[in-house]
Amino acid sequence: MEPAIETTNLTKRYGSLTAVNQLNLKVERNTIHGFLGPNGAGKTTTIKILVGLLRASEGTARVLGQEVHVDQADLKLGIGYMPELPRFPKHLKGKELLDIYGRMYGMNQLERRAQIPKLLDLVGLKGRENDLIGKYSKGMQQRIGIAQALLNSPELVILDEPSIGLDPVGMVEVRELVKTISKEGMTVFVSSHLLFEVEQICTHITIINRGVALVSDTLQNVSNLISGPITLQVEIVNLNESVIAALKNLPYVKDMTKSNNTLNIPLKTFDDVRAEISKTITNAGGIIVAMNTKGHSLEEVFIQLINKTQGGKP
Ligand SMILES: Nc1ncnc2c1ncn2[C@@H]1O[C@H](COP(=O)(O)OP(=O)(O)O)[C@@H](O)[C@H]1O
Ligand SMILES: [Mg+2]
Repeated sequence: MEPAIETTNLTKRYGSLTAVNQLNLKVERNTIHGFLGPNGAGKTTTIKILVGLLRASEGTARVLGQEVHVDQADLKLGIGYMPELPRFPKHLKGKELLDIYGRMYGMNQLERRAQIPKLLDLVGLKGRENDLIGKYSKGMQQRIGIAQALLNSPELVILDEPSIGLDPVGMVEVRELVKTISKEGMTVFVSSHLLFEVEQICTHITIINRGVALVSDTLQNVSNLISGPITLQVEIVNLNESVIAALKNLPYVKDMTKSNNTLNIPLKTFDDVRAEISKTITNAGGIIVAMNTKGHSLEEVFIQLINKTQGGKP
């Protein structure tokens, strides 16, 4: 079976600005593929080309085995799409909105009656379907947007920054929903500017910056690629001088800082040394009650990747 999405040298120029530059993207079926990049990276532009809203300047895009052209209605039927920050008429009830969209997809009344309650349940809006959208929170509006994207049981769901503008609770809800959609057998392509979000739900990830894909691989492989020296935060009961001395003896530990019972240990190695650190602390009489790794910011990831692609040291 052909990939859900495959682009070849896809390029989009707005005047002198190249928003998407020779993008080769492959999204395999039944994956959750994160499309990660900072604001202005070219995510929305790419997505608009994939759903036939924008014409590429160069290159091709194939979606569900067909080449994409602008205004190609039949292909759109296989794709569910939620645009960035969807705006829906405030005077409609949630279920009325889905009913109108259902008609637009050519679903008859029987199909709509069967599908709409299922979707309201799936996106956690059961019981709120008769409320006006104007009364929905941002998170509920995003979720009705996702329900809209799922109406015609698409094979591929494309979500453009579904958790933008949401509070932490809303973001968790959307993440859970994306996982649920994937379990229903749909391929999900989801854009985000937040690394931690993509990390938590995606099986695959493409990182894009200034229209150029820096990496595209399984989440595991990308994590390995970007895992550089990290800082360990270790909370220790009985944190005494011999614990600190023992740690300082390790070749990859240099400047630790201490606050209360917590040690911040910046590691001068790319290896995973958590087991050795933990043994060292325990042998010196410390008791570890928590150990966390301080993750990389998206910016650090980019700097590392850009340096790597230019042959420099990360
Ligand atoms: N219609 C447009 N006309 C001109 N420039 C645009 C247009 N849409 C987007 N851009 C520019 O293209 C680049 C990529 O934008 P976009 O695809 O929206 O990025 P993202 O979704 O990753 O934030 C940005 O520099 C943006 O300012
Ligand atoms: Mg965008």
